[in-house]
Amino acid sequence: TDAQYQQHFDDKIAADTSIEAKDWMPEAYRQNLIRQIGQHAHSEVVGMLPEANWLTRAPTLRRKAVLLAKVQDEAGHGLYLYSAAETLGCSRQDIYQKMLDGKMKYSSIFNYPTLNWADIGVIGWLVDGAAIVNQVALCRASYGPYARAMVKICKEESFHQRQGYEAVMAMANGSEQQQAMLQDAINRFWWPVLMMFGPSDTDSPHSAQSMAWKIKRHSNDELRQKFVDNTVPQLEALGMTAPDADLAWDEAAGHYRFGEIDWSELHEVIKGRGQCNHERLQAKRRAWDEGAWVREGALAHASKNTSTAA
Ligand code: ACO
Repeated sequence: TDAQYQQHFDDKIAADTSIEAKDWMPEAYRQNLIRQIGQHAHSEVVGMLPEANWLTRAPTLRRKAVLLAKVQDEAGHGLYLYSAAETLGCSRQDIYQKMLDGKMKYSSIFNYPTLNWADIGVIGWLVDGAAIVNQVALCRASYGPYARAMVKICKEESFHQRQGYEAVMAMANGSEQQQAMLQDAINRFWWPVLMMFGPSDTDSPHSAQSMAWKIKRHSNDELRQKFVDNTVPQLEALGMTAPDADLAWDEAAGHYRFGEIDWSELHEVIKGRGQCNHERLQAKRRAWDEGAWVREGALAHASKNTSTAA
């Protein structure tokens, strides 16, 4: 009976046994995962755009090769995640179309422009650094195919974060002008990066249920705090500062305290009114339309192969 299935599911969650694609699961659990994994996949592929913007203008051949590899990794992350979402019974084309139509979200952070090379280092260091904090926790998510995709993604994200830190270190040790560019990039990205972790716990509609289902293992605020604690010493090692007058070490708590996030900005960006929302969706729609001949060619090739084999 349904009650027995539900009991079996609850027991598995309680015992930290992963839920697999063919297992019975509550419909709301399935839909919540399609929502989160789908948004996550869209974030990976939309996230290629701000960095791809600097591929042709990387300062050296080495930086260009590294950035090219990183942007390709992001495409791969999108593919693992779309595959993980498909194991839940959704169609990849359907969720992709919803993203193109603005009916499914992707991370707010990719709606900010990359104005210069310093931004690329800062994205690797801070954006991928924040993504790792969030994704390491997801390696223990209760849904097996999602958790396993996260393991490989986290390994690659570590490389991304380190290449970013190495790029910003070069600028921090460079000329005064380079140092000023780096500080400016940090000033622009700091708050948007803190917003990546989502609304505060008191204002996060999905958190309680997602934590009960062990999809999320830590709350939005816990992960945001962990990121700040990890990152401030790195900021100091670079000789840079955060644009936050309230940032201070709290000895008793063992954490860095930070100022209030401008939640209205996150809200606006999520609603589609950020600096680059329109441009990002336009770029993805154009790529989808211009790639039609590739999809048609691939299908024609596949059907030819099938008929030859038969
Ligand atoms: N950008 C865009 N939308 C966001 C963001 C954000 N930074 N934070 C929260 N939201 C959305 C949620 O998706 C949700 O919208 P929905 O109900 O329409 O689906 C709404 O705001 C409310 O937020 P929460 O209740 O806190 O939602 P949730 O429990 O899903 O937590 C979080 C949000 C932490 C982003 C979670 O979905 C998650 O861990 N996702 C996987 C990681 C991820 O997507 N990373 C992408 C950026 S990293 C990268 O790709 C390199």
